[in-house]
Amino acid sequence: MKIAVLGGDGFCGWPTSLHLSNLGHEVHIIDNLSRRWIDTELGVQSLTPMDSIQERCRIWKEVSGEQIHFHLIDLAKEYYRLRDWLAEEKPDAIVHFAEQRAAPYSMISERHKIYTVDNNINATHNLLVALVETDIDAHLLHLGTTGVYGYSTVGAPIPEGYLDVTIDTPTGPKGMEILYPTKPGSVYHMTKSLDQIMFQFYAQNDGLRITDLHQGIVWGTNTDQTKRHEQLINRFDYDGDYGTVLNRFLAQAAIGYPLTVHGTGGQTRAFIHIQDTVRCIELALRDAPESGDRVKIFNQMTETHRVRDLAELVAKITGAEIAYLPNPRKEAAENELIVKNEHFLDLGLNPVTLQEGLLEEVVEIAKKYAHRIDRSRVPAHSAWTKEIAHRVNHDPEGKHLKSVS
Ligand SMILES: NC(=O)c1ccc[n+]([C@@H]2O[C@H](COP(=O)([O-])OP(=O)(O)OC[C@H]3O[C@@H](n4cnc5c(N)ncnc54)[C@H](O)[C@@H]3O)[C@@H](O)[C@H]2O)c1
Repeated sequence: MKIAVLGGDGFCGWPTSLHLSNLGHEVHIIDNLSRRWIDTELGVQSLTPMDSIQERCRIWKEVSGEQIHFHLIDLAKEYYRLRDWLAEEKPDAIVHFAEQRAAPYSMISERHKIYTVDNNINATHNLLVALVETDIDAHLLHLGTTGVYGYSTVGAPIPEGYLDVTIDTPTGPKGMEILYPTKPGSVYHMTKSLDQIMFQFYAQNDGLRITDLHQGIVWGTNTDQTKRHEQLINRFDYDGDYGTVLNRFLAQAAIGYPLTVHGTGGQTRAFIHIQDTVRCIELALRDAPESGDRVKIFNQMTETHRVRDLAELVAKITGAEIAYLPNPRKEAAENELIVKNEHFLDLGLNPVTLQEGLLEEVVEIAKKYAHRIDRSRVPAHSAWTKEIAHRVNHDPEGKHLKSVS
């Protein structure tokens, strides 16, 4: 297949591009490299040293013999270039990772809220319009998040996207299937919730073939392909804005920084290892909907964990201390979470679960590149409201702040 990977320079997009290329697909990365600019804006860098996207593609060609093509296009701002590219290249499938994906970044300031909405909504909508205009019938796979369901305790398993409800009508109760109600917990999650509505409209109005993958928090860094050469290494975000919870704990442990748990750590979240992310994309590509079908929604996660349990596990393996800090987010202090993921299990996913060996492997990578960590970037600074901003602890190490280099 010819596959366009939008956002293919990112944490999930790069290993997915390698995985699909390794399977023999013709892969085209489209990316505006905005994530690299955001690193510059925040004064932080990936823990792992990433080469330019052109250099990464060159090394992949050397290692595998396969060519990955790169196209610099801003999906949110360059509609006509995107449309013309699709019309010319006619990909069979499009994997859409290209959005601003950090909840804390989306809450930093009014500018960051506006940027996240402009970027994510326009990128997704431009893509949908371009698919309609070019008539190319590509299967669109979008990376959404389990966060669209919200994180309040429901007491029942969260289904895969749709909910059966009964409504009262004048002639008696009537069964209906609706999109599971969204409850976004940040501006970022709000954009992912809005994406769902756009997909529903374009699938029903224009017969677009869409799969929306509601992904859990991704952890780990290596996949079978990124391990093939040091310069194929994946991005690793450790900072308070972009570092996701488990990878952040592992990087903190590697540099002797306390594991920063927000609130009681009673938040339960869904997780998936990066190796399973790339495998899920492969499986979902093989299971495309037909034109006229409703949007397929899969929960792309393999397990759920409570944040304080993760911190305790990492502390046990590494000897790290745990620091319980005021929570910069507005969210339930404690929640239960049960998420169904039968679609992927039925398609043959054999989940990578949280084994100590894999956790240790991430700690080893973090130790190897510890000299690249700026300790002042480790804590989360972004507060969900002005009132919460007064409580945020900007310096959990206090007087003991020290450089690792
Ligand atoms: N990382 C996770 O834990 C996680 C969890 C759930 C869902 N997701 C979803 O998966 C997707 C990828 O996440 P990631 O962690 O790889 O993020 P990332 O920030 O590392 O990668 C996103 C890529 O998209 C590019 N991009 C952003 N806006 C663009 C635009 N307008 N035009 C072209 N390119 C653009 C960026 O430059 C970047 O390379 C996101 O949509 C995210 O919401 C990620």
